[in-house]
Amino acid sequence: MYFSPTATTKTIVETIGHRLVEKNGIEQGKIVDFTLPKQRETGVTFKSNDILLIGVPVYSGRVPNILLSYLNTIKGNNTLAIPIVLYGNREYEDALLELNDILIENGFNVIAGGAFIGEHSFSTILAKERPDNTDLSIAKHFADSVYKKIECDELDTLRIKGNRPYRAYTKPKVDEDKKEDTVKVEPKTDENCIDCKICAEVCPVGCIDFTDVTKITGTCIKCGACVKLCPTNSKYFDNPDYIKLKLTLEELYIERKEPELFV
Ligand SMILES: Cc1cc2nc3c(=O)[nH]c(=O)nc-3n(C[C@H](O)[C@H](O)[C@H](O)COP(=O)(O)O)c2cc1C
Repeated sequence: MYFSPTATTKTIVETIGHRLVEKNGIEQGKIVDFTLPKQRETGVTFKSNDILLIGVPVYSGRVPNILLSYLNTIKGNNTLAIPIVLYGNREYEDALLELNDILIENGFNVIAGGAFIGEHSFSTILAKERPDNTDLSIAKHFADSVYKKIECDELDTLRIKGNRPYRAYTKPKVDEDKKEDTVKVEPKTDENCIDCKICAEVCPVGCIDFTDVTKITGTCIKCGACVKLCPTNSKYFDNPDYIKLKLTLEELYIERKEPELFV
């Protein structure tokens, strides 16, 4: 299962999943991509002999908060689970621990976890084109060691990095002119738009108006899907705070981070 607006989480989860199936002989189960709102309307229940492999991106050092209610509809029955988080080369902070805790709360037995790196949602140069071949090879080794652990039945408790209470959510900025109103950070559309509707189709919160794709109807989560998947590069953010943050991140976090695995 994965939520993956710009497909880095999908790539890692698929790589681990395929390896478990192809090399280690675990039977292929159902693939649930819960990136789009429609897919988050119904929960999923697992049996005791299933294994759940689940991935989400890190947003502000946490599990994306728009996913919390859905994640609590995924139920296990002492089911083995492997949580994965993807982060944009800054930090993953408490996200993996939070996903671990949500799973345990909902009846899963977490046997391994991993924090991998993916190209940052705000940028095309921060962790550019990651996960790359090195990441994929680490993901495959991770799958092999998880399988070994299952096979040896060494399912003792895991210590996953992170702190409780989790890092506080980043508060939206207040627009000084309008007082209480928060500053809206929304994608804009330029004149190269061909109205193909891809942006509206891929938006994980369904906030791009289908009939007029220049209109934003809900709260944008800045996941980058519309910007990165637009075939004519017509979607962009021009909010000065967003641009400043993007440039700061690109400057501060150029040093390559490596995946961290807990098995
Ligand atoms: C709102 C938001 C907050 C983010 N916060 C972090 C963060 O705290 N640390 C980090 O390293 N990357 C952060 N990222 C980057 C994503 O975690 C990263 O790009 C991830 O690979 C995206 O996954 P996806 O390709 O599956 O959408 C953030 C992205 C967004 C949209």
